[in-house]
Amino acid sequence: MFSQKTYNERRSRLKREVGSGLILLLGLEESPINFAHNTYPFRQDSSFLYFFGLNRPGLNTIIDIDENREILFGDDLNEESVIWTVPQQNLSALGEQVGIEDCRKLDCLEDYLKDHLGKRILHFLPTFRHDQKATLSRLLNTQTNNDSLPASETLTRAVINQRSYKTEEEIAEIEKAIMVSNVIHTSAMKISRPKMFEYEAVGLLEGMNKSLNSRPSFQTIFTVHGEILHNPSYDNQMKAGDLVVHDSGAESPNHYAGDITRTFPVNGKFTDKQREVYTIVLHALEVAMNAVKPGVEFRSIHRLAGKVILEGLANLGIIKGNPEEAVEADIHTLFFPCGLGHMMGLDVHDMESLGEDYVGYNDLVRRNPNFGWRNLRLGKALESGNVITIEPGIYFNPRLTELWKSAGKGKDFVNYSALESYFDFGGIRIEDDILVADQGYRLLGPAIPKTIDEIEETCRTE
Ligand code: GLY
Ligand code: MN
Repeated sequence: MFSQKTYNERRSRLKREVGSGLILLLGLEESPINFAHNTYPFRQDSSFLYFFGLNRPGLNTIIDIDENREILFGDDLNEESVIWTVPQQNLSALGEQVGIEDCRKLDCLEDYLKDHLGKRILHFLPTFRHDQKATLSRLLNTQTNNDSLPASETLTRAVINQRSYKTEEEIAEIEKAIMVSNVIHTSAMKISRPKMFEYEAVGLLEGMNKSLNSRPSFQTIFTVHGEILHNPSYDNQMKAGDLVVHDSGAESPNHYAGDITRTFPVNGKFTDKQREVYTIVLHALEVAMNAVKPGVEFRSIHRLAGKVILEGLANLGIIKGNPEEAVEADIHTLFFPCGLGHMMGLDVHDMESLGEDYVGYNDLVRRNPNFGWRNLRLGKALESGNVITIEPGIYFNPRLTELWKSAGKGKDFVNYSALESYFDFGGIRIEDDILVADQGYRLLGPAIPKTIDEIEETCRTE
């Protein structure tokens, strides 16, 4: 956990920004897999972690701005718990760690709300879990006869406004996560071999993550079918000539995420065709990173990456005509149908549960609803202190290509017969995590093998 001062300061700022009323910040409960006592590994809600730091189920909080009171609600373990559970700090000790003196039993929350609702504004955040929706509904319905009060936009915006700018201690956490990624990504290059199944590699890599006292910050992507962007299965047997897209992350001790992608050849040596496409994606990554600085709209950097990709594909004969006109016609979305990156912090897609449009867009920059563009999570101008990913890719997706071709889409720019010879290619993505700094960007974490030479060298070493 960070120091008590960090949490006190975060809450003080939140109170100033929200101004008045009650803030109800709910922690998460255990989530059952197939019966109540068999649960997924617990992970606290990220906004709860941000303001209270406590990674334990069964906790809720009230920040009463008007009465300048902060209350932690929870229950101490009962006597029988000595049979099942290691000793745990009691509620008041937990509260003390994060600067809360007023600690009460969990069911006192209902009474507190009963005494204050109707007379005061209640702020709460959007929820993404059904059990939390049910809790909110119960608490609100009991007190107000209305179980569908909307989440507070004032609170949501205030939380996003704070969490969007990372402090040095948060950046240090993110860098710890990326240190783990460095081990995992270099290991992936070393251990992968023809005839190995993807799940064998994933098992070793996720085990390695755990052995470093960490855990995945999202579901690992490890696939020889990189043309499917978030391919969640690991059933393929790798073979010589395949490329593996490996997109994974670790979670730091204070629950900050890393998110790194590398693409490498299973047998350790890129073919000429793979080198050509890899070089384009790497160039797109470099151009995009060099365009990063405060004040630059991320959507313009996304477009720039799209243009670099189309210029590269024009050199390979897959694109015809002028790449500038092609990008204007959104032709890059056939090869790059996702966003160039996203904010990252306590969540790998930071604050997505609070509303992506609040996080990545504003009154000046609205989300473009067109194909490809609508998947761009971040469009607005970057600001110093933002931590973001940059993750360009080229994906040769035969099914998407057939859809475009049969609809006559992009026919003035796409050389479909040349493109067909890439139908067994897969995809390439390269992703790094950066801090938007006053003059440009800072690469976070250690340099993880990324050039063709570095990757081939890593694949060669034991
Ligand atoms: N690396 C996974 C994602 O960005 O969605
Ligand atoms: Mn990412």
